Amino acid sequence: MDDIIITGGKPLAGEAVISGAKNAALPILAATLLTGGRFQFDNVPMLRDITSIQNLLGLMGADIQREGHTMFVDTGNLCQYEAPYEEVRKMRASILVLGPLLARMKRARVSLPGGCAIGARPIDLHLKGMAALGADITLEHGYVEASAERLKGAEIYFDIPTVTGTENIMMAAALAEGVTILRNAAREPEITALADILNRMGADIEGAGTPMITIHGVRELKPVSAPIIPDRIEAGTFMVAAALTHGDIHITRCEPSHLKSLMHKLEQAGAKIDVSGTSVRVRGGETILSQDVKTMPYPGFPTDMQAQFMVLMSVARGFSVISESIFENRFIHVSELKRMGADINISGSHAMIKGVPSLSGAPVMASDLRASACLVLAGLAAGGVTRISRIYHLDRGYESLEKKFAALGADIARVRAQNP
Ligand code: EPU
Repeated sequence: MDDIIITGGKPLAGEAVISGAKNAALPILAATLLTGGRFQFDNVPMLRDITSIQNLLGLMGADIQREGHTMFVDTGNLCQYEAPYEEVRKMRASILVLGPLLARMKRARVSLPGGCAIGARPIDLHLKGMAALGADITLEHGYVEASAERLKGAEIYFDIPTVTGTENIMMAAALAEGVTILRNAAREPEITALADILNRMGADIEGAGTPMITIHGVRELKPVSAPIIPDRIEAGTFMVAAALTHGDIHITRCEPSHLKSLMHKLEQAGAKIDVSGTSVRVRGGETILSQDVKTMPYPGFPTDMQAQFMVLMSVARGFSVISESIFENRFIHVSELKRMGADINISGSHAMIKGVPSLSGAPVMASDLRASACLVLAGLAAGGVTRISRIYHLDRGYESLEKKFAALGADIARVRAQNP
């Protein structure tokens, strides 16, 4: 296991090139199970979660080759319809194979993911959706068993807009008989990216990116070549880094329109933002101003940026309240930030933050992916040395983050863990 060591306090400047989006690549790779043949994807990020889905597809008989950021997936010879506990427990998004397996293989056996560090995260809405499409679903021995000779289109209302739930049902419904209408669907850009690729595969999907998605089922789909969209959360993390370190970062190969809520808050907090095509230049202001934030489904402020934005508010002038409305336990980073001198109090789903003049480096422990990014940012801003342990969480979703920050002038290195 590795740790990250940072000596903070340097303004960061230069170019940060954004990688492909983890949360777009995962459902798109799962979608390859919908048909046989050879797919090619470009801009696939090098991440542990991508290796996890690669292993899972491999177990099902897919042949996967990687050449740098290009991935070739051949799903011509699927032999398995099971996602075992050993793989699903490493990555909850493994549940994304349920819809495609059910639609193509007529059955699926997928381990229930269980809870995780940020919340209970049930999959009841995925299962209700599959049942509405006519699947016979049972839960036994920790596994979801689903079967259907051919799924049938239906009208499905999501109680909560769920990202992977919308993706799972969209993939299953693509091969169903008749029309499926999803209401209160999630609107994240990753949903639109998946719908675009499914349509290129021959699906007939309208309305992705809006709360109502209409899917006209087709008999078969075909493989395609396509790029993965840029990672908006990685781009957002660099935006916060620029504001936090009073730096000047050009964030390139990103999609600024996916980050409007964050850019708005950063501007209100005093940062200067210039958008030009697929690049954003963020310059930190002299003073960081406190801003209240509430996480919401897209296009609201993303829960995946909440921990990073909290670091910024920790050193802002004034008081702020950050409210987390998506996950019930996504404040684990707070106790670590407090060890670095932040003044934060939690009451239910609200974090009350009194800005302090500066943070001070300390040994801290990462608890989940976005909390790890938050601690890296805190270390970059803090005076002195910060040592972050358990950074394997970071490798699940950020490609070479420490190298990208080092290229911007940060004093940051990956070292062997002291207490693995
Ligand atoms: N929910 C239910 N029942 C369900 C599904 C969801 O109650 O069947 C609840 C969840 O517990 C949560 C809310 O609905 O309270 C929204 O969860 P959602 O299903 O949208 O989350 P997800 O699909 O499991 C994806 C991302 C997360 C991101 C969330 C919210 C992927 C692979 N994961 O998760 O990304 O935080 O949407 O935007 O797309 C991350 O990258 O660090 C990460 C956690």
